[in-house]
Amino acid sequence: MGWAKTHLWDYGDGPALPGHYLGGVTVRPDFRRRGIAAELTGARVQWIWERAEVAWFVVNASNHASLTLHRGFGFQEVARGPAFHSVRFDGGEGVLLRAARPCPDPRGRPSALAWSREAPTGGVCDGAVGIDPSQHEAG
Ligand SMILES: CC(C)(COP(=O)(O)OP(=O)(O)OC[C@H]1O[C@@H](n2cnc3c(N)ncnc32)[C@H](O)[C@@H]1OP(=O)(O)O)[C@@H](O)C(=O)NCCC(=O)NCCS
Repeated sequence: MGWAKTHLWDYGDGPALPGHYLGGVTVRPDFRRRGIAAELTGARVQWIWERAEVAWFVVNASNHASLTLHRGFGFQEVARGPAFHSVRFDGGEGVLLRAARPCPDPRGRPSALAWSREAPTGGVCDGAVGIDPSQHEAG
C-alpha cells in the first residue's frame, strides 16, 4: 500500500544541516487519501523525536500534496534550491523544510501531540531548539 523511510545525513549542504531527513513516502494511487502517508509520517517523526530535536525534509516545490501533508506535521520552509545533498529536483526547484520536536508534557507524560498532525509547529522549548545561524552557508 505504501512505504517510507528516513535518512541520516551526517554532513550539511548549505542550509540543509546534518540530521534525520524524512524521505520517499509513497502510497499506491488506489490507496491514497486514506491517511496512510499521515500514519507513515507520524511514525517516522516520532522515531526521530526519540533521537533528535529537529526533523528535516526535502521535496519538489511542485509537489503540493506532499507539502500539504508535511506542513500538517509542523514542517516549515527553510530554503529553496535546485538540490539539497544528493537530491536534485525535476523542474529545478526543491524546498527544504524542518520541524522541531514538540515540547514535553509538563506533567511528564508522553505527549499525544507527538503522533498528531496537530502537533505544535514551533516546538521551541526554552530556546533549546533552533537553527544555529553560524552553521548556514550563503545561498
Ligand atoms: C503524497 C502522498 C504520499 C500522500 O499519500 P496519502 O496516503 O494519499 O496521504 P494521506 O491520505 O495520509 O493525506 C494526509 C494529508 O495530506 C494532504 N494531502 C494528501 N494528498 C493530497 C493531495 N493530493 N492534495 C492536497 N493535499 C493532500 C492532506 O492534508 C491530507 O489530509 P486530508 O486527506 O485529511 O485532507 C501520495 O500522494 C503519493 O504517494 N504521491 C506520489 C509520491 C510522492 O510525491 N511522495 C512525496 C515525495 S516527498
